[in-house]
Amino acid sequence: MKVAVVGTGHVGLATCVSLAAVGHDVIGTDADRERVAQLQSRQAPFHEPGLQDLLERVVDEGRLRFLHDAAQAVSGAEIVFVCVGTPARASGEANLAAVEKAGREIARSSTGPAVVVEKSTVPAGTARQLQRTLHHERPDLRGQITVASNPEFLREGKAVEDSMDPSRILVGADDPETFRAMRRLYKPFTEKGCPLVETSIVTAELAKHACNAFLALKISYINALARVAERADADVVEIADVMGLDPRIGRSFLDAGLGYGGYCFPKDIAAFERLSRGLHYEFPLLEEIARINREALDAALSKIRAALWNLEEKRIAVLGLSYKAGTDDVRFSPALDLAVRLMEEGAEVAGYDPKANATAAEDLPVLKIYDDAYEAASGAHCVVIAVEWEEFGNLELDRLKEIMAYPVIVDGRNLLDPGKAKVAGFHYYPMGRPAVEP
Ligand code: UDX
Repeated sequence: MKVAVVGTGHVGLATCVSLAAVGHDVIGTDADRERVAQLQSRQAPFHEPGLQDLLERVVDEGRLRFLHDAAQAVSGAEIVFVCVGTPARASGEANLAAVEKAGREIARSSTGPAVVVEKSTVPAGTARQLQRTLHHERPDLRGQITVASNPEFLREGKAVEDSMDPSRILVGADDPETFRAMRRLYKPFTEKGCPLVETSIVTAELAKHACNAFLALKISYINALARVAERADADVVEIADVMGLDPRIGRSFLDAGLGYGGYCFPKDIAAFERLSRGLHYEFPLLEEIARINREALDAALSKIRAALWNLEEKRIAVLGLSYKAGTDDVRFSPALDLAVRLMEEGAEVAGYDPKANATAAEDLPVLKIYDDAYEAASGAHCVVIAVEWEEFGNLELDRLKEIMAYPVIVDGRNLLDPGKAKVAGFHYYPMGRPAVEP
């Protein structure tokens, strides 16, 4: 099928490459001219495992192209994905101006029957507004341009894997023709056994909020439990393992630490809360999820303060700057929030990330950033493991101790083996587990 994708961020680009890889004829477009030029020269604009290879392959095979001109990209497309950014306003509400603008552009350039698919993370009700915009712009195409909601569940760092082998495909639409088109689009996936769930538009939109809020709830639950475990001298990792053995609960998303970050969870939960309030339902659990998430970062900060006493004139190495392992994305990164708060308290912060050094430098230019974990840790009074990158789990502890000013580790992601930290002579402070003194 002829597919256009408006917006080539994490979601848009994964959509482009995965649909091209299964044989569709895809054109991607973006308002950022530099990004389009980069993509035209087959360069992935961000780190995402497997993306560069797949991008090169589908471009070389002639199934994926990128155009500056959105009108040209969209005209003739049977399916048009809207994958533009939906940043949060100061109020917590999602800013949907880019979605509306994309809708207007699509309507103006559309040549005939097309399904406009909302894939950006948006509050429930957005598809209706999009539909209205399309009809205002092109009353002549009423009934020919329809809208579907097709929320994305992919995880950054696993975006290619998730989009090539999704756990489920969710399509919300209002009419049989639209469902038929979407079934045809996703046939290569459903043929391999991927479930396709069809619902009304608003149910699909709400289901996306429901999934993200529930995952965030699991994280906040385990982080609150970490605070209790710390006070009771219990071990939250062992508790999570016990909980995980119950198939009704499951072990995933029960890793206590600095809390969730990224472009989806914080924004989505705020938007979901506003949405439910707008529907006259108070949902204080959502605010509580966010509060516990903030508390997780406070807990890490308290551990650092308790270990170092005054932070002025102390050097603290923050290992990991992205919002999670596997990505160079630093948006709403708990690691960067922590770095900022440490600097505000007078500490000298030395940051390092295996993939996100450049994006972190752009986001927080005052942060000193090093090319190597040991360089960052050299002379440090404390090392904070802020992201669960594999290489931090394999740090040579003897070497680390040698180069640090004080042998103190705050393990914000419970990555290290407490026994090994003890043997190496560290004061070791994990999250929700008993501290280890040498
Ligand atoms: C999330 C959803 O998983 C995905 O379905 C949705 O489409 C977009 O938002 P993503 O932001 O890529 O994906 O990351 P995810 O792997 O879900 O992690 C989110 C945050 O939670 C990260 O900051 C991560 O470090 C944190 N996290 C995750 C924990 O703190 N503990 C856990 O046990 C799991």
